[in-house]
Amino acid sequence: MSNIVDQYRITKEPYYRAVGDEVELYEAAYSVRMPMMLKGPTGCGKTRFVEYMAYKLNKPLITVACNEDMTASDLVGRFLLSAQGTEWQDGPLAIAARHGAICYLDEVVEARQDTTVVIHPLTDNRRVLPLEKKGELVNAHPDFQIVISYNPGYQSLMKDLKQSTKQRFGGLDFTYPEHAIETEIVAHESGVDADTAGKLVSIAERSRNLKGHGLDEGLSTRMLVYAGSLIAKGVAPLAACRVALVRPITDDPDMRDALDAAVTTFF
Ligand SMILES: Nc1ncnc2c1ncn2[C@@H]1O[C@H](COP(=O)(O)OP(=O)(O)OP(=O)(O)O)[C@@H](O)[C@H]1O
Ligand SMILES: [Mg+2]
Repeated sequence: MSNIVDQYRITKEPYYRAVGDEVELYEAAYSVRMPMMLKGPTGCGKTRFVEYMAYKLNKPLITVACNEDMTASDLVGRFLLSAQGTEWQDGPLAIAARHGAICYLDEVVEARQDTTVVIHPLTDNRRVLPLEKKGELVNAHPDFQIVISYNPGYQSLMKDLKQSTKQRFGGLDFTYPEHAIETEIVAHESGVDADTAGKLVSIAERSRNLKGHGLDEGLSTRMLVYAGSLIAKGVAPLAACRVALVRPITDDPDMRDALDAAVTTFF
């Protein structure tokens, strides 16, 4: 019988360019099943990193995109109506805990704190998940691990993890990589040559200096990959950058001018 988590196995090696010692640190953390928190701005490689690590550790990966309407039942499971009456259905967290997957809770601060606390008994030495409505206590499979992503700076006082949640995790910082590495990533992912990729990275670096001076966030690696992909398809670089870099990130006319100027400096 095929295992329910087999569908979550990553069969093809994801491309991940290590930036520092994050791969080794994650492997060590996994070996002691330490819950991990990946911190960093949008589009800097957190999701790609988890996919790569799940592949490397040969574990299924169950990803949950968290949002504020999410309830504990969405994670843990619920009774559903069936022909026989009602039938319990495990939620993604219960499936991962039962069958030994890595459970990745993306954007975990988006979830309400009363939802987030359901991970507490799984993230201390108990490693259990109570399915209260079902009256079952799931002992986590030895392979189970929980990973969360967290964008520092996006939190408000109302929306942050409780200390009692934070202190259950090890943390890895992700930032945009240094010029040469980011160039390599953009070239690989989009198919443009190294020279073009390097120009895109230089534009991003300019934008990142504008963070806090009219821009909430600089251009991410993801956006550079988009721009590169358009260029690789034959779109003129100026148009590609306008569509993929400048227009999405700001509506402010002065800021658009500043970014357009950065684009024309390099292309
Ligand atoms: N170190 C890296 N190695 C390979 N690809 C990378 C790396 N960093 C970024 N990328 C590229 O950037 C894209 C965006 O990265 P990813 O989706 O992992 O971002 P994220 O940090 O999860 O963002 P978000 O917080 O918005 O979910 C990836 O699809 C990949 O193309
Ligand atoms: Mg992500």
